[in-house]
Amino acid sequence: MTRELLIPLVSCLLVVNEASLIHRCDLARVLYQQDLNGFEGYFLSDWLCLAFIESNFNISKVNENADGSFDYGLFQINSHYWCNDYKSHSENLCHVDCQDLLNPNLLSGINCAKMIVSRSGGMNKWVEWRLHCAGRPLSYWLTGCHL
Ligand SMILES: *[C@@H]1O[C@H](CO)[C@@H](O)[C@H](O)[C@H]1NC(C)=O
Repeated sequence: MTRELLIPLVSCLLVVNEASLIHRCDLARVLYQQDLNGFEGYFLSDWLCLAFIESNFNISKVNENADGSFDYGLFQINSHYWCNDYKSHSENLCHVDCQDLLNPNLLSGINCAKMIVSRSGGMNKWVEWRLHCAGRPLSYWLTGCHL
């Protein structure tokens, strides 16, 4: 392949890869616009800690679990209960395709996460949140974000 072709191809791949990561304050802004600050008693810093601990702010993260189900997106939402991935049985409680939870506009993922928080006792369903975010000082997650 000639150098003229290779360079645009490589930089394109880099852009696609980086695009799956959302910046902390950009995410804070979207969460704020979607009225998550105070939703069911959780604040923006709780949501940021949750997203970081689950996905490292990787919008397109997909992870397979030992039981054959998959976790999708920023909040690592599980296909067995919350979304349909057409691979295994799903309760599909959010009435959403798992692939939609990877959409860069974040809306399906946020709506499904709201449903999880209101239907299943807050953020405690996320084990990592319980271990690393619950009951800790979290306000530093918003440092430097102008909302
Ligand atoms: C984001 O997650 C996807 C799917 O799990 C993975 O292929 C990709 O490398 C991740 N991106 C980063 C920047 O970690």
